[in-house]
Amino acid sequence: MFCYSGLFLLACSSPVLSLSSQITLSKSLDVDNTTAPYVFNSLASLLTQWPNTYHPNGHTIIPGVLEPFTLLYHARKDARTAPSSPEWFAFDPEMSYGIMARVDGQTFMFTYQNIRPIKIVYFDGMSAALSNSSGWLDSQEILIRGKGRNGSEVFNPWDEYDRAESLCEWGNPFGVEGYVRMNAGFELLWCDFTSPSIQLVSHLNITPPGTPPGAPIGLPPPGKRPKGTPYHLPREPFTPSPLANVAHGDWLRAAAHRNSVPQPQIRLDFSAFVSFYHPRLRSLMGPREGQSMRQHRIWPDISDSDAESVVLEMQDVLRRVVTEPHGPGLNWGELANVIIGKWGDRIAQLHDFLDNSTSALRAGKDMNLTETLLSVQRLSYSPLNLYIDTTTAWPSWNPLPAGYPVTSHTPFWNASSLWRCTFSATWFLHGNVPYHQTSQEKLLQTSIETVQARLCSDYGAIFTESLEAKDSPERSVLLNSLEKWQARVVALMQWLDWTDWLRCDEVCPSNSICTMPLWPLNMAWQRPGAPEQGDTPTAWKPRCEKLDADRPPRRYRGYEYDHLDE
Ligand SMILES: *[C@@H]1O[C@H](CO)[C@@H](O)[C@H](O)[C@H]1NC(C)=O
Ligand SMILES: *[C@@H]1O[C@H](CO)[C@@H](O)[C@H](O)[C@H]1NC(C)=O
Ligand SMILES: *[C@@H]1O[C@H](CO)[C@@H](O)[C@H](O)[C@H]1NC(C)=O
Ligand SMILES: *[C@@H]1O[C@H](CO)[C@@H](O)[C@H](O)[C@H]1NC(C)=O
Ligand SMILES: *[C@@H]1O[C@H](CO)[C@@H](O)[C@H](O)[C@H]1NC(C)=O
Ligand SMILES: *[C@@H]1O[C@H](CO)[C@@H](O)[C@H](O)[C@H]1NC(C)=O
Repeated sequence: MFCYSGLFLLACSSPVLSLSSQITLSKSLDVDNTTAPYVFNSLASLLTQWPNTYHPNGHTIIPGVLEPFTLLYHARKDARTAPSSPEWFAFDPEMSYGIMARVDGQTFMFTYQNIRPIKIVYFDGMSAALSNSSGWLDSQEILIRGKGRNGSEVFNPWDEYDRAESLCEWGNPFGVEGYVRMNAGFELLWCDFTSPSIQLVSHLNITPPGTPPGAPIGLPPPGKRPKGTPYHLPREPFTPSPLANVAHGDWLRAAAHRNSVPQPQIRLDFSAFVSFYHPRLRSLMGPREGQSMRQHRIWPDISDSDAESVVLEMQDVLRRVVTEPHGPGLNWGELANVIIGKWGDRIAQLHDFLDNSTSALRAGKDMNLTETLLSVQRLSYSPLNLYIDTTTAWPSWNPLPAGYPVTSHTPFWNASSLWRCTFSATWFLHGNVPYHQTSQEKLLQTSIETVQARLCSDYGAIFTESLEAKDSPERSVLLNSLEKWQARVVALMQWLDWTDWLRCDEVCPSNSICTMPLWPLNMAWQRPGAPEQGDTPTAWKPRCEKLDADRPPRRYRGYEYDHLDE
């Protein structure tokens, strides 16, 4: 018996459904609507800039593999012949160059390549951005400490070397060689520069011509740096080479390449997706109530036992061999993005259409009401048509609304169609053929199916209601229905909270890029996510930002750079 209940719809149907006669439903769908949209969001967003900027407090920790021969960049201001460990790599040379080239003194660039696959762990969210009041570092702090935050403990977010050393020490027994994190672009925290996994490609003095002469900055010898001492570089004012003025713009542009396309070269192991959104972590449920995903914190709220259970889960997944698939081999991340690709634009179009037509009706504009209703039918039918078997319920094709006798039990959108729509990608996991699934994949499956169920049932409701409406409705009746559908679509969009809907209003000219505020580059005028500001989703509205050399993007000044050697 397949049944599910929840926010959206109640549906039960017979055990054998027509998706395929070979498939017998053996499981029920345990819909957990409490965290499914968050898990889905995190899954669909891994290694992508915008969603992880918009939802900056990362809740997912996931192992993966860095593919061999990836170029890795490390710029610094001193002339040492090899970096000490740990240090940071950028995937984009513009990031390394952007950090260093506009600072007084010479600039040296190390380029490395990994000569074999490397086991990494990725923290989602703005996990390489530093703040003592935001949740950007929560998941890392919990992994290191294994417990929730004790308010009286001192926390110095700038202490990146300490954090790096702790992470490296933590992951070493599992063969983890580096940690992938994000601020404006992605970086790799690298644990050991003597590792045979990497080889040096080049080490060059790339100081931009015209840089004022300045002695290279010396570092304290490795190991002698007193714990907790940040590595301070000279602050502005300085006079960088005029040729280096574009460095921040270039960095911003490189980060923008990842706006909605994931960082390449990293193959994540979805069967090992560990998330603080797991519904078993009860201590986080209460604090999340009434908050948007942007505001969710972990470290201050989690109980010690929940924190410990996530660390144990992480150790458990790391003991598995990352290079071999452990589940059925489904690429869960791509599946989530296929779903967003199918629905995202359509939802936006339906939303805008309903917005336009309700305002037009309210303003008393002259409209063809039949055509308006037909548009709603078209827009709601289009993502569902694939799942509706019209052979029996829809005997002969009649263009709507030319008189198909629609009953109140609109036959063509029924439990079978809803089932097909909801389980289109995961039905095989409900069949008789057993597939081994990790517990992490079960969380992903529930999340995908819950999101699909909501999409399909909301659209199904709008479709059937619009079919059942009179062909030539009265103005007030139609307005009433349109407002009801609009409210449903708005609620759906809030529940999904996809960053797919964020975009620049215009096409940016070639001397500018479409970006949202990124730490530490153009987050100067404000710091979204600071708790004192409340939830300010509009602060992330993408806009065209000029890359001109005479107006370089501002760098956020309200913080100290700590690790600056990426
Ligand atoms: C789903 O959400 C509704 C409304 O918030 C709630 O009443 C219900 O208990 C939730 N279901 C589960 C399984 O958490
Ligand atoms: C964060 O650091 C700033 C500057 O050091 C300090 O003024 C502020 O009180 C700190 N905030 C928190 C929440 O610790
Ligand atoms: C919190 O930390 C302080 C100082 O380290 C310590 O004295 C106190 O016992 C801790 N409290 C808890 C509940 O662990
Ligand atoms: C909504 O109205 C605006 C302004 O008239 C128009 O540009 C836009 O195309 C309309 N959008 C939809 C989806 O109907
Ligand atoms: C209104 O739209 C319907 C459906 O497209 C069309 O058949 C009808 O002729 C239109 N009516 C007017 C007055 O334009
Ligand atoms: C749904 O409709 C199809 C025909 O379109 C029919 O074969 C099927 O039995 C119906 N399913 C249910 C559960 O009513």
